[in-house]
Amino acid sequence: MPDAAVADARTYSPGLAGVLAGETDIALVDGELGRLLYRGYPIIQVVQHGTFSQVCELLWTGDWKPRIPQPPAPLTAPVEAALRQLPAGTNAMDALRTAVSVWGADGRLAWPPTVEQARAVTAFAPTALAAFARIRQGLDPIDPDPSIEGLAEAFLHQLTGTRPTAADARALDAYFMVAAEHGFNASTFAALVIIATHSDLASAICGAIGALKGPWHGGAPAEVIDQLHQMGSADKAEAWIRDKLDHHERLMGFGHRVYRAYDPRAAALRTVAEQMGTNAAWLDMAVQVEDIALRLLKEYHPERALQTNVEFYTAAVLQGVGLPPDLFPATFALARHAGWTAHCIEYLKTDKLIRPDVRYTGPQERDLPAV
Ligand code: ACO
Repeated sequence: MPDAAVADARTYSPGLAGVLAGETDIALVDGELGRLLYRGYPIIQVVQHGTFSQVCELLWTGDWKPRIPQPPAPLTAPVEAALRQLPAGTNAMDALRTAVSVWGADGRLAWPPTVEQARAVTAFAPTALAAFARIRQGLDPIDPDPSIEGLAEAFLHQLTGTRPTAADARALDAYFMVAAEHGFNASTFAALVIIATHSDLASAICGAIGALKGPWHGGAPAEVIDQLHQMGSADKAEAWIRDKLDHHERLMGFGHRVYRAYDPRAAALRTVAEQMGTNAAWLDMAVQVEDIALRLLKEYHPERALQTNVEFYTAAVLQGVGLPPDLFPATFALARHAGWTAHCIEYLKTDKLIRPDVRYTGPQERDLPAV
């Protein structure tokens, strides 16, 4: 019998790199030229002139509409009860995943995914994460303030109990816009695999949150801060980075599966961080470390264009608005609800089970040994 692996001449691409697995009208991620377009609009223009609510509607419906209010959804009693029962030290991503799971358990996110469902779950997630963050500190959740019309501002309000400054609200709103959508990344693809089985949107989002939790995807910005703390100052950065690269470790906030040019989201967020004016010393160090890191990554990996990714300046913005680092990945997830749900809705056009082939490389057929 021929060896199955030898007989099968199809190309296998580890990690599905370079494999075309779908078609989308939602966003163009142009890795060579460093462009990110939301339905054709460059991310830098979107961030300069838009709001997260406009971005959500654009991703879901395809239209750039005038600003509309996007108030947060209230917490439900079952979700609050579930959050209160989580063990001490629960990861915020696990808490958010649990909250979406409980919230969707009444069937409100049943197949097929709709724009109304997308609006609802995107407006629920910030309330749930803020409630978790307060409950773990022994504080009660804060009801949404109906006079607050944007999810980023509402999230900061529901976390702290006070309305954020206009500058902080705007900075987090900009981050939400930048983080809203990014093509067939791991978490979006996870959501699609689930929705393609005609499962419900809550399950798809729970799977996506699980994928985003990993440090190679959404877990990097907290580690960026950690790395900068470990370096201590820019003059120690070169030795610290060389040591990491000598040991084949990865620098968080650098490298990307698609981008070979500078990540346009990092450029947009760097501007936002500079405009915030908070944490100027920290930002100054980050900028110097970035230069050193890019130089050394080129030296150690000349074969691969490793550039700054979105997570590097995410750390600056999220820290600047006062979020604790362990909420960074879950805050990313709040924004990415827009993209996950947009892709799930778009997939209705394809409506085909996602089931790739795998090449078998194990033993040929044989008889069980006598034992
Ligand atoms: N630091 C050091 N070396 C790196 C880095 C990095 N950040 N990224 C890639 N490399 C090296 C790898 O070690 C590998 O070297 P080798 O061939 O000698 O083993 C080579 O570059 C290729 O790496 P791959 O893993 O094949 O590249 P891939 O495209 O699969 O990885 C990834 C992309 C996972 C993002 C990677 O660059 C990484 O781990 N970066 C750090 C984590 C990070 O910042 N994640 C956030 C990404 S942005 C987002 O998801 C929103």
